[in-house]
Amino acid sequence: MKVAKTIDEIRRLVADARVGGAGLVGLVPTMGALHEGHFSLIDAAAGECDFVVVSIFVNPTQFAPNEDFSSYPRPVENDLSGCESHGVDAVFAPSAGEMYPDGFAATISVSGLTESMEGRHRPGHFDGVCTVVAKLFNIVGPDVAYFGAKDYQQSAVIRKMVADLDMPLRIAVCLTIREADGLAMSSRNAYLDDAERTQAPALYESLCLAERLIREGERTAARVIESVQSLLGEKAPLGEVDYVAIVDPDSLAAVEEIEGDVVIALAVKFPSARLIDNMFVEMKNAK
Ligand code: PAF
Repeated sequence: MKVAKTIDEIRRLVADARVGGAGLVGLVPTMGALHEGHFSLIDAAAGECDFVVVSIFVNPTQFAPNEDFSSYPRPVENDLSGCESHGVDAVFAPSAGEMYPDGFAATISVSGLTESMEGRHRPGHFDGVCTVVAKLFNIVGPDVAYFGAKDYQQSAVIRKMVADLDMPLRIAVCLTIREADGLAMSSRNAYLDDAERTQAPALYESLCLAERLIREGERTAARVIESVQSLLGEKAPLGEVDYVAIVDPDSLAAVEEIEGDVVIALAVKFPSARLIDNMFVEMKNAK
């Protein structure tokens, strides 16, 4: 496994791989602190692609000034050995200066899909994500890029950016990987103290409750949201609910009457970490 720190180096590695016969190049963009969720994306890439690149870059532009950029975990050696053991061909781990040299002035902004949920609660976040992801796509030139369904809105926004800007690659969205108690894997779970960690599975529990209510025939989104909020209030009292939303899977517009497939998405702020999760509810088997 090669580790490239500059844009020139990673471009050369990918070009050499293509000359050497690599047909499909896969990219797994990450901010490091890799866990089983990331490794499932890497495994999916390794299963489909001839050459797998993982980028590790804690992207400053997607964090607001009050967020956790400086404390974000950076266990570089662990990440590299995890990549190696999952068969990654090249890691791209640039510095902030390499990605954003002095005078950098471009931003990619996707409107509409970014206006609710994470976009509303983290202004500017998706501009940072889209800009860095577009740069990574331009630098690595992958045929397929892999993202986790845990960040449902992020993958919808990236798919839209790719479609609208005619970027020549496919976006693969892989299932959320969960701990045994249902908590969605996230690098930020490491911040949770024992009491918060005990309460955190309530996020998934509340999504399961929402799904059950819908399957049993509840069609009014506001009533489902109320039940989710009350379960969170009871089982995760250390957490403050940022939002609970029931949205159309494509437009991400809030749904009032549940008639077709929906995504239930939520964010809960514990004192040590803000967690997000979501569930896609397919209506074809519902009552
Ligand atoms: O999902 C993440 O880890 C980040 O938002 C991403 C896609 C790597 C961009 O920095």
